[in-house]
Amino acid sequence: MLDGKTAVVTGGAGGIGRSIAETFAEYGAKVVIADKDAPRCDETVSAICGRGGAAEAQVVDVEKREDVEALTKAVVDKFGSIDVLVNNVGHYVEAKPFVSTDETDWEALYSVNLKHVLRCCRSFVPYMITAGRGGSVINISTIEAFRGIPNCAAYSAFNAGITAFTRSLALELGKDKIRVNAIAPETTDTLQVPLDYMLSPENREREKFWTPLERFGKPDDAAGCAVFLASDLSAWVTGTTIHLDGGAMAAGGFYRVHDGEGRWTNMPVVTGAGTDRDD
Ligand SMILES: NC(=O)c1ccc[n+]([C@@H]2O[C@H](COP(=O)([O-])OP(=O)(O)OC[C@H]3O[C@@H](n4cnc5c(N)ncnc54)[C@H](O)[C@@H]3O)[C@@H](O)[C@H]2O)c1
Repeated sequence: MLDGKTAVVTGGAGGIGRSIAETFAEYGAKVVIADKDAPRCDETVSAICGRGGAAEAQVVDVEKREDVEALTKAVVDKFGSIDVLVNNVGHYVEAKPFVSTDETDWEALYSVNLKHVLRCCRSFVPYMITAGRGGSVINISTIEAFRGIPNCAAYSAFNAGITAFTRSLALELGKDKIRVNAIAPETTDTLQVPLDYMLSPENREREKFWTPLERFGKPDDAAGCAVFLASDLSAWVTGTTIHLDGGAMAAGGFYRVHDGEGRWTNMPVVTGAGTDRDD
């Protein structure tokens, strides 16, 4: 599905980005991994090439303008342009009450969540336009761009910025057949959010009560959405966000009851009456 396409994946050596990079290569893309962790870059490229895929890495910090300029030059010198850009880097940095945060915190969150998305698009998209082959930009945000997250208010705001940027850039680039979409994951087991730390193994079976699809996310879940958005399967999809959340947004405040009967509740105490009934 991605034969002959060249893809750049930022943060492509770990977590969701690595799974996207590996899966793109399995579907035939030439992948450029743009990650600041050199050993992880080497390991990811070896893993992909060891399976017969095509990958190379550039050690870059997308928070640095000169690094993104160097990345763009290296990629354009080698491939002419790219077909797919995945802006995957992002981090909540530190959870703390908004009233305890200051301008330094906000600048850091802006830098790692939103500014580099603009920077990478500004750097690569002109080459995509000139190449005239169309293309796909995929921005990774978070489900918390669409719902609240306590103690991460600025993180949530900058990710909501990705939603708005994605919509608006999609309008500008439609005439060039460059589609711009986003993926908004719910909790996914990665380096940044290790499930064994977040939910101890002895409590892991409780995750089935948390989302309608009865589990948290795996990096491969994001990779599946990314392949869809990168390929012609999504040829008429632009300006939108996939909620990659196992149904969490659809459930809103409803949760499964731990009673073995599959009942649901939206009550702090389960009474067997009203909206917590499933019959
Ligand atoms: N894991 C989750 O539960 C979750 C939930 C919602 C949204 N997200 C979003 O998904 C995206 C990926 O998250 P993840 O959990 O896979 O992350 P991760 O921390 O597991 O992996 C991130 C990768 O990006 C690289 N990286 C970090 N900063 C970089 C920089 N400045 N320049 C280049 N490379 C950099 C790291 O070296 C690492 O390889 C992020 O945007 C994150 O906000 C993740």
